[in-house]
Amino acid sequence: MAENSHEKTLAALGVTQSEQVAPLFAQLQTQATADLQAAHSADTFEKFRVNWLGRKSGVLTLVGDNWLKLATPELKRAVGQELNKFKAQLEAQMEARRAAIESGAEETVSTKDRVDLSLPGVARPIGSRHLIRQVFQEIEDIFVSIGFSVVQGPEIETPYYNFEALNIPEFHPVRDDMDTFYVEAATESGAKTAPGALLLRTHTSPVQIRTMEKQKPPVRVIVPGKVYRRDNPDATHSFMFHQIEGLAVDADITFCDFTGTIEYFVKQYFGPSVKTRFRPSYFPFTEPSVEFDVSCIFCGGSGCGANGATCGKCKGSQWIELFGAGMVDPAVYGFVNYDAKKLSGFAFGMGMDRLAMLKYGIDDIQAFFQNDARFLRQFP
Ligand code: PHE
Repeated sequence: MAENSHEKTLAALGVTQSEQVAPLFAQLQTQATADLQAAHSADTFEKFRVNWLGRKSGVLTLVGDNWLKLATPELKRAVGQELNKFKAQLEAQMEARRAAIESGAEETVSTKDRVDLSLPGVARPIGSRHLIRQVFQEIEDIFVSIGFSVVQGPEIETPYYNFEALNIPEFHPVRDDMDTFYVEAATESGAKTAPGALLLRTHTSPVQIRTMEKQKPPVRVIVPGKVYRRDNPDATHSFMFHQIEGLAVDADITFCDFTGTIEYFVKQYFGPSVKTRFRPSYFPFTEPSVEFDVSCIFCGGSGCGANGATCGKCKGSQWIELFGAGMVDPAVYGFVNYDAKKLSGFAFGMGMDRLAMLKYGIDDIQAFFQNDARFLRQFP
């Protein structure tokens, strides 16, 4: 069809004989069929409809205006007949097309058309668990094998659980290191919580309290989780890091159970050749409290590095500080309605990041949080 023939009059197209009318409509029909073939979606179908049946400037309207209305009396009959035929045929074609698009058959065909099966596939790399997660899994396996179970608690805590119930009253000096990261949150009614009513927990120890509130002895749990402190970031500090808390409470748990459990864990985790030692320490919620060390994993506890130099990791001290622990202070039982006369137990709190760094020879804690695939890929 001459392009846009419907925009011209028959006279302008040189149509003067009625025999010329049918071929003109045949061209229009060919064009319509081709356009409709190309409509594969509801969208393109709608464009087709507007283009051909649109009331103001659709092809059919213009054919009516330019060809039929302006036809000479001799041609009018032939044009009217052809136009009706064309309209009927177009409607039937469109109906069939609409049904095909709606049933989805059209989409499938067009999608199939687009897929080039000879192209190489897209290989999506499969991720792996973060080293911290893997280390927790190792630690969990060890403790689960000796009867501990895993519990969790909230990262946003109240000062009661983070401090008071752990025998750390307001104004106690040990709060100085931790008294930080208070948060405001909206309550259910939309009001803000009072200043100082909530904070990001500074250790996993509040979950000791939450567990004992919920559960009668015997208790044997470990608690993995994130904790937050006002530490400036450097190779060994981060404002957020991971701890694993441990708590065991029962009738007649002794200091020997405590040391035996911890030594068992450390030897499972680092290997049977490490030596261990306890040093006296202080935590308000344990009594006695200890700091637990292992012989330096890097120099085998000799204090010497390669070629006789001082070991850079333990600085020649032969020992590496691992974590804090102790026998649960009887005062803590008072906060959870446990009978301090009948019960005893121990607790520990280990830095998971630190345990991972020691075992896997990582010298910058920040590597855990930078999401650098080159680092993460080393621990598939
Ligand atoms: N919560 C202590 C800390 O973060 C560690 C600890 C846990 C000490 C349990 C004793 C018992 O420093």
